Amino acid sequence: MANAYEVARDTWVIPQLVLAPPIGHVDFNSAMIRGPEPVATDTGAPVHRDDFLATLASLVDPDDVRWLFLSHDDRDHAGYLIPLLEACPNATLVTSWFAVVRMIEEWPISLRRCRFVEENMAFGAGGRALATLRPPLFDSPVTRGPFDPSNGVFWAVDCFATSVPHAAVDIAEIDREAWQEGMRIVNCVNHPWHRWLDETKWGRHVDTVEVLGIKVIGGCHTRSITGSMVAEAFKLIRQVPAAASWEVPNQAVLEAWWEAGVDVVNGTPVDPATTFSCPLEPSP
Ligand SMILES: [Fe+2]
Ligand SMILES: [Fe+2]
Repeated sequence: MANAYEVARDTWVIPQLVLAPPIGHVDFNSAMIRGPEPVATDTGAPVHRDDFLATLASLVDPDDVRWLFLSHDDRDHAGYLIPLLEACPNATLVTSWFAVVRMIEEWPISLRRCRFVEENMAFGAGGRALATLRPPLFDSPVTRGPFDPSNGVFWAVDCFATSVPHAAVDIAEIDREAWQEGMRIVNCVNHPWHRWLDETKWGRHVDTVEVLGIKVIGGCHTRSITGSMVAEAFKLIRQVPAAASWEVPNQAVLEAWWEAGVDVVNGTPVDPATTFSCPLEPSP
C-alpha cells in the first residue's frame, strides 16, 4: 500500500496496488472525502485491512467519519465493511435495499445504521451534494458511483478499470498504449456482456455521465484520470462494446506457469517489464 494522495480539494485516494499477472498490476483503491461530514467511499479488500485502516486514520479520525458510501457489495469494495463500521462508530452506511439483501446472509448489518440511496439522487454530506450515478459500465446491479459537483470528482467504481505496469498517481504517468490496452482488457473481462450492448442506446447513458463536467475520474481499479485524459477515457470506454475480448489465461497457460515454477498465489514478485508478456518469469 502506498500513501494516500489528494486528487482534488478534500478528496483523497487510498491506493492499494496488487500484482495481477500476466497483465501487470491492478489497483484496489478506496477514497475519503474530508470535510464537516467525512465520507469514506468503499472499504478496500480484506487482504489490506490493517494498512487500510491505518491510512484512513491518517486522513481523518475514525470517530469523525459520518458516512460510509458503499458503491456495491463486491468484496474488493466491501470486504472490510464490518471492521470499518466498528472502527467508525458514528458512520452511517450509505447503500441500497438490494445491496443489504445481498450482504445480509454473511454480514450483520443493522438497518438502523443504513441510509438507502437510489440511482441519480443527490446525497447530502456536510454541504456537499453527491450525485449517485450509475457508471457507464458496472458489474453489480446495485452499483452507484458518487459524483461531487463541488470539485468535479467522479468515483467510477469498476468502470475505467485498467491494469498498470507500475505504480503511479495519475494515469498520465502510465505509458499511453499500456493504458489503452489495460482499459480494453479489464473492461472486457469485467463486463463480458459488452458484446451484446446496443451501442446507440448505451451511448445515451454514457452521455448522461460525460455531460456532467467531470474533472477527475477516480475508481477502485484505476489511477486518477485528470485533465484531457478524462475525454480520452470516455472515448476508450465507448469503444468497449465493439472491442475484441481478451483471452483469459486457460488451463494450458496455467500448466505452463507450473512448468516454469511460477506461483503467484503467494504474491511472488514479477518484474513489471514482463507484465504484458506470457509466460511469467519463474520464481527465484
Ligand atoms: Fe465490482
Ligand atoms: Fe471492483
